[in-house]
Amino acid sequence: MKRISVIAAAVVAVLATAGAHARSLDAIQKDGTLRLATEGYYAPFAYFEGKKLTGFEVDLAELMAQKMGLKFEWKTISFDALLTGLKQDRWDLVISSHGITPAREKAVTFTAPHYCSGAQVIATDPAIKAGKDLAGKTISAQTGTTYLEYVQKNVPGVKRVVNFPTNEAAMNALMTQRADAWVTERFLAKEMLEKNKKIQFNQGELLFVEKIAAAVSLGNQPLADAWNHAFAESLKDGSYAKISQKWFQEDIRCPE
Ligand code: ARG
Repeated sequence: MKRISVIAAAVVAVLATAGAHARSLDAIQKDGTLRLATEGYYAPFAYFEGKKLTGFEVDLAELMAQKMGLKFEWKTISFDALLTGLKQDRWDLVISSHGITPAREKAVTFTAPHYCSGAQVIATDPAIKAGKDLAGKTISAQTGTTYLEYVQKNVPGVKRVVNFPTNEAAMNALMTQRADAWVTERFLAKEMLEKNKKIQFNQGELLFVEKIAAAVSLGNQPLADAWNHAFAESLKDGSYAKISQKWFQEDIRCPE
């Protein structure tokens, strides 16, 4: 009986890893197309203008593919399903504003960071602008993000944390007073607030800063290296600066 369960466990382990093989850089080069994934509801980083996916990370990833001598293909899916999809070999690389965290580093291999940014407190009440103002308040944030995790773990005395599948829904919670504050990324907040001028929002302080990178399947270092090589080139030849200026009117690369 014991032996059977040992065998069964071994079979389960094999099945769990089978089919979950990330494509090697060689295989991708042979195929000629890099399969990219993003959320697509995260302006100005990656979002839809009509049917067209566009944004800073879209321009950047397409430039990287070009520099790597590859064509590309995009898939969009909810934010919290992106990294799991790498494990299932549904795409080769995820670029969706993921902050590099120790927990994520156990599950995926990150590329060099392509920008640095911060989490910000957004509220209608001007008295709510920093971490200390969140005590006793209801806070909204997007599911699966470092913003949600930060508020849950590092802000003392929060009354309730409500999470939503998209940032838009998290912002709506604030607009409809189901939340007192919304925690999100500062450039995304700026863009969303400009589009919703009806409500007077205040962009508060940065709660923390993070290094944002693309991710490949855990251990697929050759692919990360090829991307990093193309990325280093873009920092040197001015093409990164150009894309960053286009979307932010400033250079958002991480300080060295
Ligand atoms: N930077 C945050 C994180 O790493 C939020 C990323 C959200 N990205 C998105 N495409 N919705 O969790």
